[in-house]
Amino acid sequence: MTDNLAPMSLDTVLRVEFGPGRIELLPELIADTGHHRAFVVTDRGLRATGVADRVLKILDAAGVEHTVYDEVAPNPSTGNVDAGAARARAFGPAAVVALGGGSVLDAAKGMSLLVGNPDAVAADADHLWEAADGLPLIAVPTTSGTGAETNGFGVIEDAAACRKVYLGHPSVKPRIALLDPELTLGLPPAATAATGIDALVHGIESLASRGANAFSVACATQAVSMVSHALPAAHRNGSDLDARAELMMGAHLAGQALTLSGLGLVHGIGHALTAHTGTPHGVALAAVLEEVMEFSAPAAREAYERAARAMRVPAPADGDWARAAVAAVRELSGTLDIKRPLRDLGAARAQLPAMASGAVTDAVTKNAPRLPEETEVLELLTRVY
Ligand SMILES: NC(=O)c1ccc[n+]([C@@H]2O[C@H](COP(=O)([O-])OP(=O)(O)OC[C@H]3O[C@@H](n4cnc5c(N)ncnc54)[C@H](O)[C@@H]3O)[C@@H](O)[C@H]2O)c1
Repeated sequence: MTDNLAPMSLDTVLRVEFGPGRIELLPELIADTGHHRAFVVTDRGLRATGVADRVLKILDAAGVEHTVYDEVAPNPSTGNVDAGAARARAFGPAAVVALGGGSVLDAAKGMSLLVGNPDAVAADADHLWEAADGLPLIAVPTTSGTGAETNGFGVIEDAAACRKVYLGHPSVKPRIALLDPELTLGLPPAATAATGIDALVHGIESLASRGANAFSVACATQAVSMVSHALPAAHRNGSDLDARAELMMGAHLAGQALTLSGLGLVHGIGHALTAHTGTPHGVALAAVLEEVMEFSAPAAREAYERAARAMRVPAPADGDWARAAVAAVRELSGTLDIKRPLRDLGAARAQLPAMASGAVTDAVTKNAPRLPEETEVLELLTRVY
C-alpha cells in the first residue's frame, strides 16, 4: 500500500440512485438514457419472488413499452447471452434494464454489447473490447454482493472451453446504478450469505491488490466496515431494512473498489471451482478465503491490518494483525455457516490440478499480492478438499 499514490487515471463516473423505494424512479431514468422503451433482463427466480412484477408494474403505470427476457441462468453462459441478444436485436433500440443479481447484470451487459455488434457472438469476448457501442444500460441489483453495477464487463462461462471469459466494453458500463434495498428483502439467508461474502472478499482483495490506489482503498475500507457489520444482521433477519441498506451500499463500494484495483487469488480459485462444479460464486470464494489470506499474508500485512480494523477487531496482543484478520473472517464465515470442503461442493480430487492451473492463469489472479505457483495452489486446494 505504500505506492497508493502512484500516478493514476480514474474513471469513476457513475450515477447512483440509492434508497428504499428508489425503484419508482425507473421510468424517468430510462428517459434520461434517451430511450422510451426498455429491454428488461431478469431471471426466473426474480419472477417467482414477485420482485420482477413489482418493477414491471412501475413501467406499465408510466406507459413505458417493454419486453422481458427472464431466462438468465446462474453463472450465465455464452449461449445464454447469445439467446438474450437475439431477443434484444428483435426488439430494437431500447434502454437495457438489468434487474437481478450479478448473473443478470453480467449477462445483460453482454446482450447490450451484442446488439451493437450484430455479427458477433458472446464467445468472441476477447475481441469485442474494441467493438462498436452497445445499448445504454441501467443496473438494478437485487443482491448485495457482486458490485457488477460498477463496471462494463461480465464474467461469462464459456462451457466449450471450460473457462470464464470477460465480456465487456466501456459503453456497457451501466449509466445508472439504481440501488433500492427493498428489492433485496426477500433474498433467502443462504443467498444473502453467499452474495455478502462475495462483497467482503471484494473489499479484502481490493485492499491487498497490486492495483490498489488511494481511491480504491477508501472505498474498500468503508466496504469492509459496512459489510462485516450488516451481513450477520441481514442474514439473521432478512426483513431488517437498515441492515439490507447498509449491506447494499457496502457491496456497491466494494464494487467501486474492485473495479479500480482488481482482485486476487480468492477470485482466481473461485472462478475455477465454479467452472468445474457449478458452485455458487460466493460459496466458492468462502471455501478458500482464509487459506488464501494465510498464504498471502507475508505480502499483505498492511492491507490485512486495515481490513481487521475495519472489521472492528480489537488490537491483537501479539501485534499480528494479519492473523487477527483471518480469525475474524473465520468467525464471520462460521456465523453464516457457508464454508464447505471442496468434496462437498461436488469437486472430484482428479479435478484439482486443472482447477489450480485455471486459478493461476485467470486474469484476476495477476493482482494478487503474492503471486502463486501452480503447485502452491494445488497444495492449498488439497488442504481444503
Ligand atoms: N461483473 C462483476 O464485476 C462481477 C463481480 C463478481 C461476480 N460476478 C458474477 O456474478 C454472478 C453471481 O451473482 P450473484 O451472486 O448476485 O447471484 P445470482 O445473480 O446468480 O443470483 C442467485 C440467485 O438469487 C436469486 N435472487 C436474486 N435476487 C433475489 C432477490 N432479491 N430475492 C430472491 N431471490 C433473488 C436469483 O433468482 C438466483 O436464483 C456470477 O456469475 C459471478 O461470476 C460479476
